[in-house]
Amino acid sequence: MPAKVVVIGSLNMDLVTRASRLPRAGETLIGQTFSTVPGGKGANQAVAAARLGADVAMVGCVGTDAYGSQLRDALLVEGVDCQAVSAVEGSSGVALIVVDDSSQNAIVIVAGSNDQLTPASLKSCDAVLQAADVIICQLEVPMDTVGQALKRGRELGKTVILNPAPASAPLPAEWYHSIDYLIPNESEATALSGVTVDSLDSAKVAATALIKAGAGKVIITLGAQGALFADGKGFEHWVAPKVKAVDTTAAGDTFVGGFAAALAAGKSEAEAIRFGQVAAALSVTRAGAQPSIPTLQDVQGFVPS
Ligand code: RIB
Repeated sequence: MPAKVVVIGSLNMDLVTRASRLPRAGETLIGQTFSTVPGGKGANQAVAAARLGADVAMVGCVGTDAYGSQLRDALLVEGVDCQAVSAVEGSSGVALIVVDDSSQNAIVIVAGSNDQLTPASLKSCDAVLQAADVIICQLEVPMDTVGQALKRGRELGKTVILNPAPASAPLPAEWYHSIDYLIPNESEATALSGVTVDSLDSAKVAATALIKAGAGKVIITLGAQGALFADGKGFEHWVAPKVKAVDTTAAGDTFVGGFAAALAAGKSEAEAIRFGQVAAALSVTRAGAQPSIPTLQDVQGFVPS
């Protein structure tokens, strides 16, 4: 029986347009394609962990609109346990995404039903948390709920991962001691630490500040520059596998899900980081959020160039 990863977080329907470049303020651009793709940071991480070998359960809320059942079905097809995914009256979460020719994106999310994942609803799913080996949270559901999930994960002695995304401000100070692995990207690390992360050296300064705040270990993902691991004793820079990027949407989610799946399977931290990096690199070679996430076989068959 594979180890259990429980993801507490968002499910969004991604409304994705491809355009030659991202629009400027006040500008209308003619796009090339439009598609609706299942996404949401929580759901993407659940799909990644499931495709990459873990037994996964999702805790979240969808709306009673058509997107709600599509988002739930997208997880069920991957074998994700959705008993703790509730349908609540109203609209599901959506993300408006523009991807440009250089594979960069801009995203606006509207929380919809994700806002209904309250601390009280989390309490009613405690059995799911108790069955976890690894618990993953992000920040697309109410902050109170995330805070409670981290605290409960720590009380239960689980491995607790926080991907603080999206982040625009420091985290509540009392959260840090519940976090085993804090996994921000550059802009999130900047928002959390107050240190502008734009180089490996500045990432080291930010990671040191986050460890000082109380996080167990920090992994700052740096896109094509790889990832910086810090544990308070030292740093390790992990170079990113080289790939041709098509769409970076959900690359961070794929890293987090892959890292968690590998840790849950008993791999070392180093193996889990490399595994997450290969999975994330493969995801950027394909379009969309969940459709881009590779399988275990894809990762095992990856040949570095
Ligand atoms: O991390 C990518 C995800 O961010 C997208 O799938 C979108 O839904 C937003 O939540």
